[in-house]
Amino acid sequence: MTKNTHLILFKTFNDNYGSLTPLEVGEDIPFPVNRIYYIYDVEHGMRRGFHSHKELEQVLVCVHGSVKILVKTPFESEDVLLNRPDVGLYIGPAVWREMYDFSPDAVLMVFASRHYEIADYIRNYEEYVSFATGYFDGKK
Ligand code: TYD
Repeated sequence: MTKNTHLILFKTFNDNYGSLTPLEVGEDIPFPVNRIYYIYDVEHGMRRGFHSHKELEQVLVCVHGSVKILVKTPFESEDVLLNRPDVGLYIGPAVWREMYDFSPDAVLMVFASRHYEIADYIRNYEEYVSFATGYFDGKK
């Protein structure tokens, strides 16, 4: 997959009563969670995101409906369909993301490692490429 991203399959309990997916911090979510938010009621055709983070780690779970996530680095890009409440998409630092094709009933739940910090965002694509090139060079 794209650098600094991976899919996580959560263990799920299905029985006669329905399904239950528990998420344990440090096990299912691979970082301490400091913020949770969810995106829903997104109008048909809307595209959101268009940014990267310098340090933030996130796990995105489409708990209802479906949505596509474009994850992109200067070296590769991928479109990930999230349409199962038992699958999470981990996105680490220095990954550009865009969210699109929300189904009308989509609820995208996001677990984040840090509080909301405007200074952690990179919204300009040229600035992103320069940041990410340095970031991934440093990891070699
Ligand atoms: P925005 O960053 O535009 O969302 P997206 O990346 O999905 O396009 O966020 C929408 C609004 O919500 C914006 O005014 C900032 C605010 N916001 C918070 O206050 N806290 C948060 O944790 C997040 C993610 C957004």
